[in-house]
Amino acid sequence: MDVERFLRELPGRFAGFPGSETPIDRRLQPLCEAVEGLSEENNLALIALAAGCLGDGEAYVEAGSYRGRSLIAAALGGAGTAIGIDNFSFDDSDPARLAANVERFGAGDRVRVIDGDAVAVLREHDLPPIGVFFYDADHSTAATRAALDAVRLLLADPALIVVADAEWPRVRVATDAFVAANHEARLRLRIAGRAGGQPWWWDGMDLVAWHADSPHAGTLPRG
Ligand SMILES: C[S@@+](CC[C@H](N)C(=O)[O-])C[C@H]1O[C@@H](n2cnc3c(N)ncnc32)[C@H](O)[C@@H]1O
Repeated sequence: MDVERFLRELPGRFAGFPGSETPIDRRLQPLCEAVEGLSEENNLALIALAAGCLGDGEAYVEAGSYRGRSLIAAALGGAGTAIGIDNFSFDDSDPARLAANVERFGAGDRVRVIDGDAVAVLREHDLPPIGVFFYDADHSTAATRAALDAVRLLLADPALIVVADAEWPRVRVATDAFVAANHEARLRLRIAGRAGGQPWWWDGMDLVAWHADSPHAGTLPRG
């Protein structure tokens, strides 16, 4: 995953970053309108750009797909393989509607959905190298941290981790602890959402770059 290209190009996708309420390119607006979800058009533009920066053979993997908004955005953004993990635990969860949405946007050939708990799937399934990992599932501190820990061994080098609802204190605690514990991880950008006066970024996004060959990689995790 070309993390530096992604970070370089991200601001240019908006007239004023991060203050613009929509991206310049409105191609994902119909997706937002057609598929129920818990992300804004700006979040989708970021996901799509990240997916477009994947390296050969790398996958976009997300935990928490709901009806497919972010998963389809990744496929439309250029992910050759986009994998959504969801345990369908929301009261109105509906795997059939998720599958139908994926088909409706013509992404069935490159999207795969795995039904299961995010951490269990990351630990037990044979997944391709993950260039972009988007975490948008259980937002408790323990579940967020467990998923970030579980994905470590599956990440490409370099890779990008995107954390949704990042400004929620219980999510932030997990992200900060993960970054502090892993020399390979660096918090590169913290985008404020509703709490920071930017509801067009939902509840914020944290962008963590993962470089296995960072000077300290290979040493024991801190903390
Ligand atoms: C916030 S929604 C995802 C929204 C989606 N990314 C979007 O852009 O619309 C969270 C999803 O995570 C799923 N979920 C909750 N806990 C989970 C877990 N432990 N493992 C896998 N999926 C989980 C829920 O079923 C729900 O569909």
